[in-house]
Amino acid sequence: MYGETSVQGSKNSILPILAATVLIRGQTVITNCPRITDVDATLKILRHLGCVVTREGNTVTVDSTDVNKYDIPEDLMREMRSSVMFLGAIIGRTGKASLSTPGGCEIGLRPIDLHLDAIQRFGVNIREEFAKIEFEAMKPLEGVNIALSFPSVGATENIILTACTAKGTTVITNAAREPEISDLADFLNSCGARISGTGEGTVVIEGVKELHPVQYRVIPDRIVAATYMAAAAMTHGKVRLTNVIPSHIAPVIPVFEEAGCDISISQGSITLTAPPCLRSIKTIRTMPYPGFPTDMQAQIMAMTTLCHGTSVIIETIFESRYKHVSELLRFGAKIRVDGRMAVIEGVGSLTAAKVIASDLRGGAALVLAGLAAQGTTTVENIKYILRGYENMSGVLTSLGCDIMKEERNTADGGKENS
Ligand code: EPZ
Repeated sequence: MYGETSVQGSKNSILPILAATVLIRGQTVITNCPRITDVDATLKILRHLGCVVTREGNTVTVDSTDVNKYDIPEDLMREMRSSVMFLGAIIGRTGKASLSTPGGCEIGLRPIDLHLDAIQRFGVNIREEFAKIEFEAMKPLEGVNIALSFPSVGATENIILTACTAKGTTVITNAAREPEISDLADFLNSCGARISGTGEGTVVIEGVKELHPVQYRVIPDRIVAATYMAAAAMTHGKVRLTNVIPSHIAPVIPVFEEAGCDISISQGSITLTAPPCLRSIKTIRTMPYPGFPTDMQAQIMAMTTLCHGTSVIIETIFESRYKHVSELLRFGAKIRVDGRMAVIEGVGSLTAAKVIASDLRGGAALVLAGLAAQGTTTVENIKYILRGYENMSGVLTSLGCDIMKEERNTADGGKENS
């Protein structure tokens, strides 16, 4: 892989920012919005709530003046479990909400107890019955102090969205510190909110009466950037990524350097040059930001299958985020999983295989393995990859890779991508 590409806008920024538009009466314009299916699902929910939504390329306009609903239908909740991040915005806007319980997903149970405990502290009554959860603020929302037992990204975002227009001050201790949370806060502050401390672990929100519409550009996607860096490392290539924020990728850079890659950084771009032979990584432990991101675990595991020596990965965030292992073994990789730990013995080369994606980042890891393998690999079920990567096959082709996206007819007369 050789060449240069610009990195798409961040999936994990755009989703909570689009949810936040529910709080804003008027027409909000968001630019650098990636064209991914999770955004499609989010726009469907906004339209269901009564927002007027238009999209031109990477620009989305949302007018939430006439929001007239507070429920998220089950089919939309199932389509994207992170729809739970609408909770805070809908309650902040309407004082109530009705969600179907977001099922688990391919990487774990993904409970929402931290979200519910926090929302309840704002004086919101929560009623769980069968597959529905009903929320109702029994009085005007008032700021509270919340200590998260785990720095949950989604719970931190939901608390911020609930607290923005609540009366008084909300303090979140042990808040998640991911850059996407700072991006959400920057967006909301540009709309007139008063949020401080994001990225430091304690976030303070002074409630304001109302928020006004703005035009806002979301940050680049740090996980997509690191994914393409891993692809270059695995194919002994060199890639220059523009439109990145290098500090957001800092947690992953030492891993690429330990593998023998050369990384050079300039203000808005990062270049990775792969070594002739990758070296193994002693131990990678996924942690909340600024630790090593769990969303890069699968892609780095794919890289370590080709690293000379033994690498160890410990997945501390999700309890079943190793579904890509069985598929990587089909390429001839040598991986042993014991609970949260994976031990990878590097092999000289991978052999092309027919594999099936079962989640977003695991699917991306299979594409990376296919790029490095000898022969032609087929990855099925790439609908998972389309959730978070804008035009992955087009980007990789522009970087000299031999890859194409195929649309096939399914037995029931539908279409599927592979
Ligand atoms: C966000 O998910 C991201 N998604 C995930 O990215 C990312 O992997 C995750 O944060 C961790 O960084 C979006 O931003 C849309 P969490 P979220 O709440 O908010 C447990 C990707 O590939 N937990 O920080 O759901 C949970 O089960 C996706 O882009 C509770 O127990 O993550 C998990 O084990 C995948 N109770 C851990 O905390 C709760 O109430 C981290 O979850 C909430 C979470």
